[in-house]
Amino acid sequence: MTHPTGVSARRGPLRAGQRVQIKDAKGRLNTITLIPGGEFHSYQGVLRHDDLIGGPEGVVVTNSSGRDYQVLRPLLNDFVLSMPRGATVVYPKDAGAIVQQADVFPGATVVEAGVGSGALSMSLLRAVGDQGRLYSYERREEFAEIARANVESFFGADHPAWSIHVGDAQEKMLEVHEPHTVDRVVLDMLAPWECVDAVATVLAPGGVWLNYVATATQLSRVAEAIRASGKFTQIEANETLQRGWHLDGLAVRPDHRMVAHTGFLLTARRLASGEEALTMKKRLKVSGFSREDVEAWTPSDESRWTPQALGERPRSDKKARKNLKEARLTARRARAAEQGVDAFGRALPGEEA
Ligand SMILES: C[S@@+](CC[C@H](N)C(=O)[O-])C[C@H]1O[C@@H](n2cnc3c(N)ncnc32)[C@H](O)[C@@H]1O
Repeated sequence: MTHPTGVSARRGPLRAGQRVQIKDAKGRLNTITLIPGGEFHSYQGVLRHDDLIGGPEGVVVTNSSGRDYQVLRPLLNDFVLSMPRGATVVYPKDAGAIVQQADVFPGATVVEAGVGSGALSMSLLRAVGDQGRLYSYERREEFAEIARANVESFFGADHPAWSIHVGDAQEKMLEVHEPHTVDRVVLDMLAPWECVDAVATVLAPGGVWLNYVATATQLSRVAEAIRASGKFTQIEANETLQRGWHLDGLAVRPDHRMVAHTGFLLTARRLASGEEALTMKKRLKVSGFSREDVEAWTPSDESRWTPQALGERPRSDKKARKNLKEARLTARRARAAEQGVDAFGRALPGEEA
């Protein structure tokens, strides 16, 4: 029986090419890729990779100066927060909520855009499984390349359910998909309202469209655009707040600090063609709400919706190129580990060629 993609990188003895997290007694965390003969140097001494390769995770190992390190494989949550990035990643708490609220199921056909660094792609691929299909669209070539390498590093191989395409989501969707053949659409991009027609065309009746946006103005604009199309129903929004807890003897309380804001989730269901949404008895209260109010809050002039105006930090091409190099190297090692060879194709000690 063959295992689902990526399983062997998540269990069993640690292998060369795999990533591990090592944590010292002060809680300092480093993520390293295991290389035969490799060493992790810190001002506290040297830890030999060979002392970890072939052994289990969950062990405590001692370095040349007698310092202890706890060794664990990074979970998906840890991986996405430590991997090289192009654009901002979807936080793990939101990725979990997205998979659940978009009702992404094994075997589903899912469209995703933009791909950014590929963090959400990994959660979606896990949810659709090897028998599903995830079509990911990204307009920036260098981000698509970083995402490709990150996804390959995480799964240790090409994922059979995945294809990534460079271009504008609204155009690509119409080019690639027959009408009403997609089960779920998940958008994490600056202007998802530009995709209303494309999503309405490709999404199957009853299909879920989920938007992840960073600001209330984007949330409002996309909600009104979806409502105005008349092709969707059950338009709902929420956000997920996650507050960590401090657990220390009798001092059990919420952490002092938390990530207070990441983004909003908005979901809508596709109506069957020609159907109108059921008129709800409880009407939205829209009195005293004029076109001018909407225009002031969410201007229709597209040139005003810039990343800077929405508070996004610009990403330099130089930084993207540096991160791409790192992502590709990690991916090469992870793929080699899956195949039992090193990054140059030579059999690893203890592996059959
Ligand atoms: C915040 S990032 C996505 C992060 C990603 N979900 C992750 O978890 O790593 C937004 C991405 O959308 C892309 N984008 C914006 N508008 C787009 C469009 N119309 N079509 C395709 N990609 C788009 C941007 O280039 C950017 O990479």
